[in-house]
Amino acid sequence: MDINKYRVDGKVAIVIGGAGDIGKAIAETYSGAGADVVISSRKQENLDAAAEEIKAKTGGKVLPIASHIAKLDQTKPFVEQVMKEFGRIDILVNSSGASFMVPLTEMEEWQWDSVMNVNVKGPFFLAKEIAPIMKEQGGGSIINITSYMGIRVEESLGAYCISKAAVIHMTHVMAKEWGRWNIRVNAIAPAWVHSRLSDPFLQMPGVNDRMLSQTAIGRFGEPDDVAAIALYLASDAAANQTAGIFPLDYGMLT
Ligand SMILES: NC(=O)c1ccc[n+]([C@@H]2O[C@H](COP(=O)([O-])OP(=O)(O)OC[C@H]3O[C@@H](n4cnc5c(N)ncnc54)[C@H](OP(=O)(O)O)[C@@H]3O)[C@@H](O)[C@H]2O)c1
Repeated sequence: MDINKYRVDGKVAIVIGGAGDIGKAIAETYSGAGADVVISSRKQENLDAAAEEIKAKTGGKVLPIASHIAKLDQTKPFVEQVMKEFGRIDILVNSSGASFMVPLTEMEEWQWDSVMNVNVKGPFFLAKEIAPIMKEQGGGSIINITSYMGIRVEESLGAYCISKAAVIHMTHVMAKEWGRWNIRVNAIAPAWVHSRLSDPFLQMPGVNDRMLSQTAIGRFGEPDDVAAIALYLASDAAANQTAGIFPLDYGMLT
């Protein structure tokens, strides 16, 4: 096969959570593979720093736009700003995330709402805003970052597990409904990846060893491991791939 199919030259990619560890790795990979990239999350200063870092490495065009994924009044202006700047959107990655470590019987409504709004509701309404643009262009690729916890649960991370299961089904539903417009929708389901989000959990007494003992290879992954799958799914190498849930689980789900 033509290995250049893995490149994304001329495409415009949005990475939500693009200043986070996994999101930044994905944004940098896309930029290095030829795409113009928009990174977004809530804090402009983090985005500016991430954009400078990526541009210094790839020499590509990276636009940092602050936006809260769960505040739906910000969705349309955000998409309009991207369209004004680039005139098209080919790739959408949802790599924002929220979680609380709390037993189900102690969970408060605001915690439930926060996790569901950031992990499910916000990504749904953003994709809904962008799908007609992709349809008009003749297609696109949407990639949702779910988790192995959408498939197999961990105690005290109940709302997170439920939200990530919803992301898996959201991926299936979008793929079925938008496939006729050549919009491919896939998800990546990582187990533990070293990041700001995961390290506090892994540093709790006994957790790291307990989780590691469930892997086949005795180690967890890095953000670049997620980016490698995200590049495949965004590229023309995956032109016929949709509705897939790609585990990065090191054998934890086996
Ligand atoms: N690390 C893991 O082990 C692991 C495993 C499985 C799945 N995941 C998933 O992978 C994704 C990325 O996680 P990560 O490990 O890279 O975590 P991270 O470094 O904490 O990144 C999360 C990103 O989400 C952004 N964000 C949070 N709330 C937001 C909001 N309301 N609106 C817009 N952006 C928001 C954060 O930026 P601001 O705070 O500035 O908004 C940050 O850029 C998440 O969906 C997570 O659930 C991670």
